[in-house]
Amino acid sequence: MADSGKSNSKNKNINNNLKNTGIYEEGMKFLMNTYSRQPVVFEKAKMQYLWDVEGNKYTDFTSGYGCLNVGHSNSEVIAAIKNQVSKIIQPSNIYFSESQVLLAKLLCNLTGFGKKVFFANSGAEAIEGAIKLARKYSTDKYNKERYEIISFYNSFHGRTFGALSATAQTKKQSLFEPLLQGFRHAALNDISSVENTINEKTCAILIEPIQGEGGINVTDKKFMNELRNLCTKKDILLILDEIQTGFGRTGAYFAYENYDIVPDIMVVAKSLGGGMPIGAIISNDEISKAFVPGTHGSTFGGNAASCAAGVAVLNYFKKHNLVEKSKKPGRYLLSCLKQLEEKYKKSVKEIRGIGLMLAIEFNSPVAGELVKLGLENGLVLNKVSDFTLRFLPPLVINKKDIDNLTLFLDKTLKGFEKNGKDEKK
Ligand SMILES: Cc1ncc(COP(=O)(O)O)c(C=O)c1O
Repeated sequence: MADSGKSNSKNKNINNNLKNTGIYEEGMKFLMNTYSRQPVVFEKAKMQYLWDVEGNKYTDFTSGYGCLNVGHSNSEVIAAIKNQVSKIIQPSNIYFSESQVLLAKLLCNLTGFGKKVFFANSGAEAIEGAIKLARKYSTDKYNKERYEIISFYNSFHGRTFGALSATAQTKKQSLFEPLLQGFRHAALNDISSVENTINEKTCAILIEPIQGEGGINVTDKKFMNELRNLCTKKDILLILDEIQTGFGRTGAYFAYENYDIVPDIMVVAKSLGGGMPIGAIISNDEISKAFVPGTHGSTFGGNAASCAAGVAVLNYFKKHNLVEKSKKPGRYLLSCLKQLEEKYKKSVKEIRGIGLMLAIEFNSPVAGELVKLGLENGLVLNKVSDFTLRFLPPLVINKKDIDNLTLFLDKTLKGFEKNGKDEKK
């Protein structure tokens, strides 16, 4: 593994342009400091594995923040991208392109409720579009005063201004105020909090079926159904943010299937592109009609190469029965984490999640240390807070990979308990 970056001889040779200093050092110098960078530079990846510039192998339990459900550099995705870029990459949205139309059709067929799609480049950009779509639909149908959107405390919908205004986390919002007006927040799994927040201005409710960045907080089935009924009764649009939960992550193509509800608008991104940038808004005919030429757009949204990758991702799911197959490692990882919870009662507070979207919350702030030690032991882990690790492995993860993780956690937690690191700070 690359060290913390002072001097790394292998890094120095990786690229002629960077040979004097190394990628890590030059990255620290030339890239804005928006991420707490880990002291490793990955050079190669295949399915659930990554290799750093020194040739060390790692197992990925993060999927690059949940965008590689079909695995890194999936060969079927690579072939589709290569084929597309050799023909045309960016036809412009004033013309239809085959891969974009095909992907829209596949998404509509897959969801059933979806009849029309708008493509963006990222999750946040798709959320922005969904906010505009909901406001436009509501003001067309009612009046210009009916534009407010309710989202939930601890949610995460992205970093752009509309998405950030919906993201009800003070620590992410407070440095950038004033935010966009027209957002109100309610407590997750508390229907009376939603009822009290709704007013005559409310046009939509935006919710993640499982809050990802917020720490893997699962929406109750009862609450989701109450929410759906409330929205239907008051003609408020239910917008599901399935950017992280989509594409097999929770043992279903989309998490809403676990709730037996149907959204009015669904936003997806991340794993749809198999590593390529893409986002999409999916909705029914009636709501989609609010968008007419000139109301919304995106130069690169629905880029032919990203859409070809998306088509390959959906074909891969179908051909390899990936949603069904992912249930077994999902159950296994959950059972391993539960065993650790049982064994390390002093350290582990809770195990949460569904499918391969799981979290382990500790009683003390050990998550950062576990990420660091994980890297040293060939495991790519992710913390969503100082107390919580989140697991979002590629869905192709296997028993051996999970056993290695369990062994590492077992050994490390044993050490923590022995050295008193499990104690509440
Ligand atoms: C649920 C959810 N919504 C929105 C976003 C924003 O997506 P992006 O980073 O592609 O803009 C994320 C990203 O982590 C997310 O998890």
